[in-house]
Amino acid sequence: MKRRMLSTLLLALCLGAGARAQGGEEVPFITSPDNVTLEMLRLAGVGPRDHVIDLGSGDGRIVILAARRFGASGLGVEIDPQLVAASRKSAQEAGVADRVSFAEQDLFRTDLSPATVVTMYLLPEVNLQLRPALLKLRPGTRVVSHDWDMGDWKPDRTSVLDVPDKKVGLNKTSQVHLWVVPAQVQGLWCGTGPLREFSLRLNQHHQDVEGELLRKGRSRTITGKVEGNVLRTQETRVGVLVLEKQGEELKVTEGDGPLALARGTSFRRGGNGSCTG
Ligand SMILES: C[S@@+](CC[C@H](N)C(=O)[O-])C[C@H]1O[C@@H](n2cnc3c(N)ncnc32)[C@H](O)[C@@H]1O
Repeated sequence: MKRRMLSTLLLALCLGAGARAQGGEEVPFITSPDNVTLEMLRLAGVGPRDHVIDLGSGDGRIVILAARRFGASGLGVEIDPQLVAASRKSAQEAGVADRVSFAEQDLFRTDLSPATVVTMYLLPEVNLQLRPALLKLRPGTRVVSHDWDMGDWKPDRTSVLDVPDKKVGLNKTSQVHLWVVPAQVQGLWCGTGPLREFSLRLNQHHQDVEGELLRKGRSRTITGKVEGNVLRTQETRVGVLVLEKQGEELKVTEGDGPLALARGTSFRRGGNGSCTG
């Protein structure tokens, strides 16, 4: 933790002037090295159908690479007009100006809803300020951050890369974290069809879920993770259950043991706290 605070401080001190985020710390201009930029896009699985928004886009390298190498479209949001101008020029030179654009604006005033992927190399406090807006994005949207995490919203995956000429922090490594925005599955779900004797009561904290699978007064504890619209439980005595959220239904897409027969059937949201009646 001490090491993390120190490297944050060094990042801020070493790099001098940057742009000020929402009444807080300045986020300096420092580029993600090429291997880190590539890993950010690779970890997010960026492809031609993606729209990548880079918050604090610096010289534009992330969205330009997303378009040039992976065929994505992109938007870079940057508060410094000179960096915006340089990014537009680089996009022209890279032959991707038809697929990417750069907006000179405050990242906190950006409509993130068109994004399928959001990338960031900011500061821990700024990530935390952005977190509520990121968690409201469409389930399945991927969020990637260079180095900084998102507090108790733990990353779904992390890569660590060697960065021998890293100019900030104490380590000559960079971390790339990936989060997949989880669907909201908290609450009571009532089985339908072959599942009508079952109900599910789920508690959710970000992507972590724990709860009970109930049948005729008997209950089994389940734990699992939500990635996008998919809830996968850990192995239990009734096996693994994989559910996909479709509107206000949780559809069984995989099930072991007695639940194997339930594939293709659904749980529906229970309205008044009970599944009877
Ligand atoms: C650490 S650099 C990252 C640049 C680029 N994303 C990369 O990874 O190479 C952070 C960038 O955020 C920009 N920035 C800081 N605060 C901002 C704000 N409120 N709105 C938009 N951009 C901001 C800075 O000017 C800087 O270029």
